[in-house]
Amino acid sequence: MDLNPDDIVLLLHPAIAVTIVFPLIGMVLRMAWQTRQRRLEVKAQNKSKIPPGVGQEHVQLGRWLTGAVVGVYFLGITHPIFANIQEKDLLSKEPFKVTFIVLLYVATIASLVFLYRAQDKVWRGVFATLTGIGVVVLGFQDGVYRLDNAWFASHFYYGLVAALLMVFSLAIVRDIYQDRANRWRTTHVVLNCFALLLFLGQGITGTRDLLEIPPSWQKSTIYQCNFDKTSPSYKTCPPLAPPK
Ligand code: HEM
Ligand code: HEM
Repeated sequence: MDLNPDDIVLLLHPAIAVTIVFPLIGMVLRMAWQTRQRRLEVKAQNKSKIPPGVGQEHVQLGRWLTGAVVGVYFLGITHPIFANIQEKDLLSKEPFKVTFIVLLYVATIASLVFLYRAQDKVWRGVFATLTGIGVVVLGFQDGVYRLDNAWFASHFYYGLVAALLMVFSLAIVRDIYQDRANRWRTTHVVLNCFALLLFLGQGITGTRDLLEIPPSWQKSTIYQCNFDKTSPSYKTCPPLAPPK
């Protein structure tokens, strides 16, 4: 298919999600399962065939996964945000707003970098909160297709919550290890089982959205179709002009 530069930019996000993020999720999940199996086997005083380093490896790849999911989230929202800025010529009309958005990107990425380095409980809390606020506020900028009236099937809301859960996982790594009563461990498992469902949802809603978005050179024609559910001619398109 003939792709314009705009279409290639659009494909960057799904391509990276499919080739990098989802394989990583598979590996992190496999090691999560093994970590749990091994811990329960050892607790029951049984011998385990699973190597003892599997928990560490889960965390090592988990740390990569947090960055990858936040990164792919940013990639997903950045294209529509900047397309909107360009379309409405906001750089000359509202330069403060554009500056604010750019600074927010910088601050959010910096907070995530500091979260990776933070050891102290207070600082982990501070940087996780700052990263979370940045992720939410940037997601609610104009141009992002949120599907607010159908949030339960929205690629945006699933992605937002999944990204926040990954940031939270990164923030509580030390607590999981330090808590002898395993409350943080259980919280982590419950929340991330939910995150898995959201990732499954991202695979489904993302491919659905790809099916909906036409290549740039077809847009002017496709968007003449009737998308109004209340109209009797819903889901019909005007006939193409006969070829010359
Ligand atoms: C889809 C994502 C994830 C799932 C489903 C998941 C699930 C799990 C499960 C089932 C365990 C074992 C719990 C047990 O022993 O009963 C575990 C352990 C752990 N997870 Fe995750 N996790 C995910 C992502 C992450 C991420 C992103 C991080 C951190 C950046 C992380 C950090 C940890 C830590 C520190 C442990 C304890 C490891 C050990 O005992 O050595 N996890 N996780
Ligand atoms: C961890 C996985 C993923 C996350 C966190 C994520 C997150 C996001 C976010 C936040 C947006 C912007 C909101 C929107 O336009 O709906 C977005 C857009 C999009 N995503 Fe994903 N996504 C993920 C996986 C996927 C996958 C697997 C596909 C397809 C195979 C996909 C396809 C798309 C498409 C087509 C858009 C619209 C882009 C645009 O308008 O420029 N995403 N994604």
